[in-house]
Amino acid sequence: MSVPEKPPFVVAVDGPAASGKGTIATGLGKAFDLPVLDTGLLYRCVGVVVLRAGESLDDPDAAASAAALLTADQLDDPELRTRAAGEAASRVAVHPKVRDALLDFQRTFARQEGGAVLDGRDIGTVIAPDAPAKLFVTAAPKVRAERRWKQLQAQGEAVSLEDVLADIRRRDERDGGRDAAPMRPAADAVLLDTSEMTIDHAADAARRIVEAARARWNTSNEG
Ligand code: DC
Repeated sequence: MSVPEKPPFVVAVDGPAASGKGTIATGLGKAFDLPVLDTGLLYRCVGVVVLRAGESLDDPDAAASAAALLTADQLDDPELRTRAAGEAASRVAVHPKVRDALLDFQRTFARQEGGAVLDGRDIGTVIAPDAPAKLFVTAAPKVRAERRWKQLQAQGEAVSLEDVLADIRRRDERDGGRDAAPMRPAADAVLLDTSEMTIDHAADAARRIVEAARARWNTSNEG
């Protein structure tokens, strides 16, 4: 009789821009010794490639071609961390063709032996709906704007807090309002509101949630 293979332990971390999900995902990767994929970088990369080629972010074919050619070594580019890249990412992310072209990359990462942590907008709903651990990380828009503003300042980007808040509100609306894989918590995701938490506190809370999910997952895969 064949022994059933243990499924990979996948941790889905979704949430809006600057909610703290990136830092939380990195912390979970370290705590559980799992590789981490920031899926926002994939959309950022597609947006930046389209802009560099002088094409329109609203052209689904131009963006889908960039998505189809994307490779992991493109994701280290510091330009992907800029404000313009975030906005471009959100715009190309509305195209179903782009999302389809990025699906295999994300699912292959999620299904690697041992498991993985992925952070994004649709990990728990579309990319890894069977993930045994799902978090939806939120924070009030003003709190997120302050966090993102500080990050941008540290990167040397001169921008006002008001403009960052307006970006965040526009992105929330676009990412949550699109037809294709809109940002929303999976029915079985644990909500973690980090508005009143330091990042260390939030990372600890996330670790405890995932520890509990891991214990349940270990029990259900015993034997
Ligand atoms: O997480 P981030 O801010 O780097 O993401 C940039 C944009 O990419 C975000 O506004 C929407 C899009 N995105 C998405 O649609 N689905 C994902 N899984 C990750 C990001």
